[in-house]
Amino acid sequence: MRLLVTGAAGFIGSNLIHLLRHERSEWSIRVLDSLTYAGHAGNLEPHLGDQSVELIVGDVANTADVNRAVEGVDAILHLAAESHVDRSILGSAAFVQTNVVGTHRLLEAARKSGLPMIIISTDEVYGDLGPKDPAFTEQHPIKPSSPYSASKAAADHFGLSFVRTYDQDVRITRCCNNYGPRQFPEKLIPFMIGQILQGAPCPMYGDGQQVRDWIHVDDHNRAVLAVLEKGEAGEVYNIGAREELTNLQVVEQLGLALERTVEIEFVADRPGHDRRYAVNPAKIERDLHWQPTVDWKTGLSSTVQWYLDNSEWIESIKSGAYKSYLKSNYGHR
Ligand code: NAD
Ligand code: TYD
Repeated sequence: MRLLVTGAAGFIGSNLIHLLRHERSEWSIRVLDSLTYAGHAGNLEPHLGDQSVELIVGDVANTADVNRAVEGVDAILHLAAESHVDRSILGSAAFVQTNVVGTHRLLEAARKSGLPMIIISTDEVYGDLGPKDPAFTEQHPIKPSSPYSASKAAADHFGLSFVRTYDQDVRITRCCNNYGPRQFPEKLIPFMIGQILQGAPCPMYGDGQQVRDWIHVDDHNRAVLAVLEKGEAGEVYNIGAREELTNLQVVEQLGLALERTVEIEFVADRPGHDRRYAVNPAKIERDLHWQPTVDWKTGLSSTVQWYLDNSEWIESIKSGAYKSYLKSNYGHR
């Protein structure tokens, strides 16, 4: 198998490359990544030195970069995205460019070359749930709330329209919130680990009672692999761990895992904040025999240990631009 993985210098993609090198070591992998603030070539070490992992630094929204990247591959896993809701609220143009235009460019290239393509989407495209609502199934209508989820929903719509119109092999995965090593520190879990370790307050948006379903990144990536190897063209697969927790519970459990006191600071809520996400993964469990294998307690403890052991990684990615993002997002709250 010769695989193109877009966005693999980021969090989920880099963990996917490590998993594939371990479990599908005979495959050759090409990465297309523009190395935005969230992408780091170092995340792919030690595999960049391998003959079987090639990095093309390029943009999924650039036709020439995409054409070069798809040449000679057998399938595309599309992860490249602007991925942070808070940044999409500060400005959404980059989300349209990468998530919508970029996905469209890849779909066109896949169509011309007759390649199967898996779009790594998100449960956020469904919108949010009330406290007692059943978890989203794949049949649930799309109703995104944030500019981020709207851009991912648009990409999903393009993908499914290419299935219907061109009979193209496009598959879509919609996963819940991931946690694990190498997650950019703007996201809840690594951000709060940093705050707790510094003895700084943990800024909780609103009342902190928002609910997310948390999955270990390796379980997500194993599900993506199952969709690649056993999934059907034109199908959407929800990926979830049935590990629903409030944001306050997550932060309290981080304090316990770090054996540190947690100071919560309730701050102004995120505009349009989704109250609860939960996806029903019954279809992928039944049809592709995938199951999550990492329980929350074990996964959280190994993740916390990774951040404790890799403080130099965190320091290396906290650029001046990250500091000005923190000011824009938290300064006024
Ligand atoms: P991330 O922000 O950590 O990484 C994104 C990667 O995409 C980075 O390496 C970045 O350099 C690259 N990229 C951005 N714009 C690009 C462009 N124009 N051209 C080429 N590369 C570009 O994101 P992540 O958390 O690893 O998420 C990966 C995918 O999974 C995204 O599509 C996201 O929507 C989806 N997803 C994430 C989660 C989650 O909890 N993190 C949950 C469900 C789905
Ligand atoms: P995040 O990691 O940004 O993921 P998403 O918005 O895609 O679910 O945030 C997870 C939850 O944590 C979300 O409800 C927002 C909340 N949150 C805070 O309360 N404070 C923070 O500083 C951050 C980064 C997130």
